[in-house]
Amino acid sequence: MRTKSFLLALLLASSVTAFGQNATVTTKASPGLLQLAGSGIDGQILVSANDSWGVIRAAQDLANDFGKVTGTNLTLERPARRGPQWVGWGGWNGPPHPPNGSEAPPPSSEHNKTAGLPASRETTVYYTYNPTTNYINMSVADRLKNTVGPAQNFTGPILVSNSTRKTVIIVGTIGKSDVIDALVVAQKISDLPIHGKWESYIAHVVDNPFPGIDRAFVIAGSDMRGTIYGIYDVSEQIGVSPWWWFADVPIKKAEGVWALGGRKTQCSPSVKYRGFFINDEQPTLTNWINDNYALGPYGPGFNHYFYARVFELLLRLKANYFWPAEWSSMFNVDDLANQPLADAYGIVMGSSHTEPMMRASNEWPTFGSQYGGNGQ
Ligand SMILES: *[C@@H]1O[C@H](CO)[C@@H](O)[C@H](O)[C@H]1NC(C)=O
Ligand SMILES: *[C@@H]1O[C@H](CO)[C@@H](O)[C@H](O)[C@H]1NC(C)=O
Ligand SMILES: *[C@@H]1O[C@H](CO)[C@@H](O)[C@H](O)[C@H]1NC(C)=O
Ligand SMILES: *[C@@H]1O[C@H](CO)[C@@H](O)[C@H](O)[C@H]1NC(C)=O
Ligand SMILES: *[C@@H]1O[C@H](CO)[C@@H](O)[C@H](O)[C@H]1NC(C)=O
Ligand SMILES: *[C@@H]1O[C@H](CO)[C@@H](O)[C@H](O)[C@H]1NC(C)=O
Ligand SMILES: *[C@@H]1O[C@H](CO)[C@@H](O)[C@H](O)[C@H]1NC(C)=O
Ligand SMILES: *[C@@H]1O[C@H](CO)[C@@H](O)[C@H](O)[C@H]1NC(C)=O
Repeated sequence: MRTKSFLLALLLASSVTAFGQNATVTTKASPGLLQLAGSGIDGQILVSANDSWGVIRAAQDLANDFGKVTGTNLTLERPARRGPQWVGWGGWNGPPHPPNGSEAPPPSSEHNKTAGLPASRETTVYYTYNPTTNYINMSVADRLKNTVGPAQNFTGPILVSNSTRKTVIIVGTIGKSDVIDALVVAQKISDLPIHGKWESYIAHVVDNPFPGIDRAFVIAGSDMRGTIYGIYDVSEQIGVSPWWWFADVPIKKAEGVWALGGRKTQCSPSVKYRGFFINDEQPTLTNWINDNYALGPYGPGFNHYFYARVFELLLRLKANYFWPAEWSSMFNVDDLANQPLADAYGIVMGSSHTEPMMRASNEWPTFGSQYGGNGQ
């Protein structure tokens, strides 16, 4: 985010290091430690395409955070094949049962790799949503028929399969990720400390998680946000502040990143909903929005490009709850992708001031005259 400062009303205090917990990674080399990134290693993060879009998106942030610190991004890998046994990641030498042509055809979102690693394929991950329709000027019958519009996508990240990079991190959500569930079944990790819990995760190094992978750092979450917090916990430890974009906090550069031997078990937070709200955003934030984002149909561009930055900040701060700007904006109307984006990222929305039921007070002066409103 460039220069101009503004006020975010904070309900949440964050410290630079994670709340007095065990470190699981380090930027200091030491014999015997598992290297995750840096010179001499071309690493990848193994994720399941089954996992929530919000988890895969955060894994992409982590892959790029390693790049900010060491100069080389990690890539995201998904298993190449499914079989009677769960198999098929980079480095794997052959199936226990020879393939008989029964491998499922790739889903329509999968397409051939166009450049880079030979014989590997890419899968683009989508979050598909149906935006709410604009009720204005619609007959009651049409309103009942058309509560949502045609499907739209948030597109990306891209998962590569069958690459020759080294799997260094495995990340996913228990009960959602084929990869993590396979580790639980094989008793390589235990989900007992966090199973069914709210926003929890475990993180530690696992020996021989899968054939062909000697060691990997595994982050397994009990639910979507648990996994996301486990991901961003690594980002923060390697020197990427939650505020790296919003406050231009410099990234701490390092030659490499290594996983420590310890275990982290993050239990449920004692405060269930944690967040901040945007308050008194005019003039500073609104002027900054006007300088940096296209005007929306009804006013300043408080759109999903801006809110993606806000939601990322919330998640990096281990928050989950947000009240949007409302002075000169209407969260659910200014950009019909705003509300789906909150869901895709895993942010719980509320509203501030005199704005019950998620409707912005500006909706009444803007649209209310046809319902007998006096424009105020
Ligand atoms: C993952 O998706 C595949 C289909 O793409 C399905 O066969 C499998 O059961 C899913 N696994 C989980 C854990 O949802
Ligand atoms: C890492 O990925 C980001 C986002 O795609 C890109 O801007 C950056 O140039 C990449 N860094 C390197 C070192 O390739
Ligand atoms: C391939 O092998 C599997 C497992 O033995 C079997 O269930 C399946 O029917 C076979 N498919 C074909 C096309 O032969
Ligand atoms: C992908 O590659 C296969 C085999 O080379 C080819 O038959 C197919 O047409 C390609 N698909 C696309 C979408 O390019
Ligand atoms: C995986 O890569 C190997 C060579 O590295 C290649 O022989 C094989 O066909 C690839 N499999 C898929 C499913 O792309
Ligand atoms: C609704 O219809 C009125 C009258 O035709 C028009 O002036 C107004 O711009 C329309 N509003 C929207 C949001 O389309
Ligand atoms: C959204 O992605 C799906 C693939 O998952 C694709 O079939 C569909 O055409 C896309 N829709 C849009 C509007 O891009
Ligand atoms: C921190 O590490 C110690 C020693 O390995 C362990 O007993 C403790 O449970 C860990 N704490 C957390 C929060 O994971």
